[in-house]
Amino acid sequence: MEVVILPDQDKVAAAAADAVEALLRAAPDAVLGLATGSSPLPVYGELARRRAGQGLDFARVRGFGLDEYVGLPAGHPQSYAEVLRREFAVPLGIDPGRIRVPDGTAADLPAACRDFEQAIHDSGGVDLQLLGVGTDGHIGFNEPASSLMSRTRIKTLTEQTRRDNARFFAGLPEVPHHVVTQGLGTILEARHVVLLATGAQKAQAVHDLVEGPLAAICPASVLQLHPHATVLLDEAAASGLA
Ligand code: F6R
Repeated sequence: MEVVILPDQDKVAAAAADAVEALLRAAPDAVLGLATGSSPLPVYGELARRRAGQGLDFARVRGFGLDEYVGLPAGHPQSYAEVLRREFAVPLGIDPGRIRVPDGTAADLPAACRDFEQAIHDSGGVDLQLLGVGTDGHIGFNEPASSLMSRTRIKTLTEQTRRDNARFFAGLPEVPHHVVTQGLGTILEARHVVLLATGAQKAQAVHDLVEGPLAAICPASVLQLHPHATVLLDEAAASGLA
């Protein structure tokens, strides 16, 4: 695991954008794994600037979202399919049909999860997976005690994660209890994993994922097993490291 500590969030975003840009210059049809939440938004903004300023072309990119809330209707502003359409596909000039997100509205959710896994497999696999980390150490929505071998499936959010994410909704009661998420085993198959964390509220999770034992109680610690994992931190998020 490569850990890079940078002065601020803008530098973290630029470093992540550098990794995406290097990949796309070499492979314009690369497959990206896409996180939502607040951590990747500055990266998507930086990539949009590079598209405009440096002619970086995203038209052939394909993407897979990490996770989705169960039960939010299509087009709901906080549905992750809609967030990725608005924050990623549109600013980067990508046909939203090239971005696939686990389906949280399917009548048969387990079947939809299996179809999603198959679609990643059929794409040739994720070249670069962007990740944030929850304050409880989740990646995707793999909450503490998730199986380290898990595949895309339904999960229940912890109350801590629901409270953390209430800022995106009108209030805590609006935050769904259930999600569909890529599993830890799914995430580990990406060829390069780039995790971003900024702010002191992530310091404990960052300590646990980088320096703690490999343990399901901190799902992000599974990245210790990954052969090409890059962890980009600002100084506040790195403040718990030895
Ligand atoms: C979102 C996701 C989550 C977030 C995590 C951190 O697709 O998979 O694991 O990355 O909850 O969220 P932020 O970045 O909002 O602190």
